[in-house]
Amino acid sequence: MKLLVTGGAGFIGANFIHHILEKYDDYHVINIDKLTYAGNQQSLARWSDDDRYRFVEGDICDQEVVDDLVSQVDAIVHFAAESHVDRSVLSAREFAMTNVVGTLTLLDAAVKHDKKRFHHISTDEVFGHLALDAPAFTEESQYHPRSPYSASKAGADHMVRAYFYTHELPITITNCTNNYGPYHFPEKLIPLAITNIMEGKKVPIYGKGNQIRDWLHVTDHCKAIDLVLHEGEIGETYGVGGDNQPTNFSIVEKLIAILGADPEEVIEYVADRPGHDFRYDIDYTKIKQELSWEPEMTLDEGLKETVTWYQENKAWWKPLKEGSYKEYYEKNYKSKTV
Ligand code: NAD
Ligand code: DAU
Repeated sequence: MKLLVTGGAGFIGANFIHHILEKYDDYHVINIDKLTYAGNQQSLARWSDDDRYRFVEGDICDQEVVDDLVSQVDAIVHFAAESHVDRSVLSAREFAMTNVVGTLTLLDAAVKHDKKRFHHISTDEVFGHLALDAPAFTEESQYHPRSPYSASKAGADHMVRAYFYTHELPITITNCTNNYGPYHFPEKLIPLAITNIMEGKKVPIYGKGNQIRDWLHVTDHCKAIDLVLHEGEIGETYGVGGDNQPTNFSIVEKLIAILGADPEEVIEYVADRPGHDFRYDIDYTKIKQELSWEPEMTLDEGLKETVTWYQENKAWWKPLKEGSYKEYYEKNYKSKTV
């Protein structure tokens, strides 16, 4: 099988390419990635001499490039996106371009080239947020995005589903909760906290730190995508979740404990994220019953493993905290501390 993976130089896409090339000897992967600030070819350096892997630097909004690549593969696994909520607060235009127009460009190419199998990676954020005691989101929950990021992902999901009904494109969608693990860009809470603690810097906690996320190790997410791609029912959506409900404060506390730091020295409360979603939780009964998927890694095991990875891979993340990211970080941080 020949796969076109979009956004494979990002966090989940890179982990997915490792998973596929390690598991299937006869699979080929073409990775199209624009190499935005979040894309990093170092994450896939071990495959650079493997003839099963090809990297193409390109934009998924570029119809000509996308058309050519789609014509060469059997299936598309679509990760490419602007993915950080805080950045969508500062500026949303790129989110609409890549997440909506980019997805549409891929869908058009998939229809044109014999209705290629299309798997779309989405998020639980499209359903909005939950009160403390509300039941988890399911595949039937109403869409209610509350940030420019989640609104653009919702737009993409609607397009993908519309192409199934209108053009009979063989699609599937997964809506997953918060991932963590290796190759996670250090702007998101877990890798930011780990690397800041390692550098002796403070960890900014938004608001009171009482928001709740449902964390899933990225390898469990990749296994779910693999299953849905091969065995999922065409036209269907699958919720993918981690069975965890810690507060942001308790996640940072766990990381402080693993790294042996002093909470008093590390934690800094800053202004809240505008429109901050309070809680995410997704019910994964459907994928469990239909495809026998469930998370394998516990949160405590996964956090320890992730800390070890960042300790052993300073050469991967240290350069990322300089340059344009530093500028963004300072801008975002300033907006929360003045
Ligand atoms: P990421 O930001 O780490 O990676 C995104 C990748 O897409 C980068 O390599 C970037 O260079 C590339 N990209 C951006 N714009 C592009 C364009 N126009 N053309 C080609 N490539 C482009 O994101 P991630 O965390 O790996 O998320 C991957 C996907 O999974 C996204 O669709 C996201 O919405 C979804 N998702 C993420 C999470 C999470 O917790 N990280 C959870 C659920 C769903
Ligand atoms: O639910 C899935 C989503 O999870 C994905 O669709 C997104 O692409 C991904 O970025 C993630 O979104 P979040 O906004 O939940 O992730 P983030 O790591 O940015 O923040 C996690 C929580 O921690 C959130 O409540 C905000 C808070 N936070 C974040 C940062 C970066 C802080 O308190 N301090 C911080 O410095």
